[in-house]
Amino acid sequence: MRIPFLVRAPREFLIERLQPGCGHVLAELHSEDFVRPWTDGEFEQLLAQDTVFGFAGLEIGKGSAGPVGFVLARHAADEAEILTIAVARSHRRHGLGWLLMNSVLRELHSERVEALFLEVDEANAAAIALYRRLGFREVGKRPQYYRTADSGRSGALVMRRDLR
Ligand SMILES: CC(C)(COP(=O)(O)OP(=O)(O)OC[C@H]1O[C@@H](n2cnc3c(N)ncnc32)[C@H](O)[C@@H]1OP(=O)(O)O)[C@@H](O)C(=O)NCCC(=O)NCCS
Repeated sequence: MRIPFLVRAPREFLIERLQPGCGHVLAELHSEDFVRPWTDGEFEQLLAQDTVFGFAGLEIGKGSAGPVGFVLARHAADEAEILTIAVARSHRRHGLGWLLMNSVLRELHSERVEALFLEVDEANAAAIALYRRLGFREVGKRPQYYRTADSGRSGALVMRRDLR
């Protein structure tokens, strides 16, 4: 007897470099999860800076629907930091966060950057799991760093990924 089961259809993504002018899309994706979402204007200001770069992920076959995830990073001298990353709830656990982070790592490798840093809410298990799998390690803590949705505070982990 055959037992029916559900298979999650794989999704494929196209990764594109972020360009000025897409601030509204980034703000919309960012607002799905962050307690203080960044505005269109804040994203545009960041995208206008020479040191800031990033990538967007579009679902192949559904590109006209616009980006379903993005990452934004800043590169200064020998070091870089992840400013933010977000994948639409509807598209999580399909490998897009991994692809976006790898695009940043590849670019920084080619520019011979020494290390990539980020800060993450210590309660954000999904993001911490992703970063650990990518080779980030904890190098510090900032207690009471983030405001939580219930007006409490949550600590931040500072993580580092060596690139050389
Ligand atoms: C963190 C985030 C970007 C991950 O994006 P994603 O596209 O779902 O991640 P991926 O599918 O590429 O996951 C890659 C790996 O990360 C880990 N991971 C991702 N989500 C996870 C979860 N919810 N629980 C446990 N591990 C998780 C797994 O190891 C996963 O590999 P696997 O699916 O083969 O097990 C996404 O959850 C998100 O946008 N969260 C809200 C915004 C946010 O928290 N940003 C980080 C701020 S520092």
